[in-house]
Amino acid sequence: MSTRFWHPVADMHAVARSGELWLDRGERAHVWDTDGRRYIDATAGLWYANVGYGRDEIVDAAAAQMRRLHAYSHYGDVSTEATSRLAERVAALSPIEDGVVFFASGGGESVETAVKMARRYWSLIGEPERTVIVTRERCYHGLAGYGTSIVGSDVFRAGVGPLVGDTIRVPWESAEALADAIDEIGAERVAAFFCEPIIGAGGVLLPPEGYLQAVQRVCRERGVLFVVDEVICGFGRVGDWFASSRFGLEPDAITFAKGITSGYVPLGGVIAGPRLRDAFWGEGSGVWRHGYTYSGHATAAAAAHPNLDILEREGLLGRALELEHELADALGPLVEHQLVSEVRAGLGAVAAVQVDESALADDPGLTDRVTLVARDHGVLTRTLVGGGLQVSPPLVIDRSGVDEIASGLRAALDDVARQG
Ligand SMILES: Cc1ncc(COP(=O)(O)O)c(C=O)c1O
Repeated sequence: MSTRFWHPVADMHAVARSGELWLDRGERAHVWDTDGRRYIDATAGLWYANVGYGRDEIVDAAAAQMRRLHAYSHYGDVSTEATSRLAERVAALSPIEDGVVFFASGGGESVETAVKMARRYWSLIGEPERTVIVTRERCYHGLAGYGTSIVGSDVFRAGVGPLVGDTIRVPWESAEALADAIDEIGAERVAAFFCEPIIGAGGVLLPPEGYLQAVQRVCRERGVLFVVDEVICGFGRVGDWFASSRFGLEPDAITFAKGITSGYVPLGGVIAGPRLRDAFWGEGSGVWRHGYTYSGHATAAAAAHPNLDILEREGLLGRALELEHELADALGPLVEHQLVSEVRAGLGAVAAVQVDESALADDPGLTDRVTLVARDHGVLTRTLVGGGLQVSPPLVIDRSGVDEIASGLRAALDDVARQG
């Protein structure tokens, strides 16, 4: 046994046998392992390191907050300046008019919060039978209890027994299918539709033209809450503060995490619009007994401010728009490779190189081998559900870094193809 660290989302038999990759340090879009080998980070950690590695001003702000008051529970009426100012700032950046912000420690807790918020909303306004949560096939909303219940791929539910009830999934690309599903159940039973603007971990599936506006319309017409999960897209990744801003959406709530601190400290949350706020904040609504020890953690909030400053000052939203083209341009030619069936790119700094599905049917471990061999060529990537290779680099990557990703992936695909 080479480790006692039980890794998340891992085949621990393989990890214990082959050992771990120990990463040691990072700078902008590169990281180094403990043997001094350099890698280009094709995934921004796990879609979060938007401002890249080694940003001293975030470290300094976090350290200053820790020295002053590292944290204090925010239950009830207690707050810290960094946290209340961050709620103000996030609400101002968001496309939701007059929103309020509930903080959590990451994406999963944000989704738990939003599902409970949606269901309780209906209970508060006297329609408690509206409990059904609708999501999309292939979607991913984290792996906590509600997240595991609403996830779009059964692999995440295997073997854990009964989960939260009253959840259904609809085809990922069809607003009509959503309308039909709601009408079939009866809108008077449906609490909310949760939607990733880009399905991320489920394979990097870009929304069909007009899809996001159409599902918002479907929800509005039926009174169903429209919740946009921006855990990946929020804070710059798609060339705007939120995908909802870019697509002109006005959701009832937005979940966020990752890019708000670029992962320097874990932080997530829910931006809730007036519809939800009025129900929960109205006179007589009482205490909502929901929250986390670290909701609004002062050090996480203190780290978020300079992170947002960097996104603004360095024009990284604009850089994501450039990357939209650069990634498509650099990765596009890989579609000619015998092991590749499709390259999905063209919306922000998010892309996937799809390993050929028929080759995967014969050899399900194919993408994992490409991912592993890519390390030998200096690229850290990740296998997505469905067998794609994830490409979502830090927004500070330059064109030569993008080319480094493309050439490293090509070399890995060549090696694996040669091995047969
Ligand atoms: C869209 C989306 N929602 C929720 C989550 C869960 O976030 P976390 O892993 O921080 O719990 C993720 C994680 O990747 C995500 O991509």
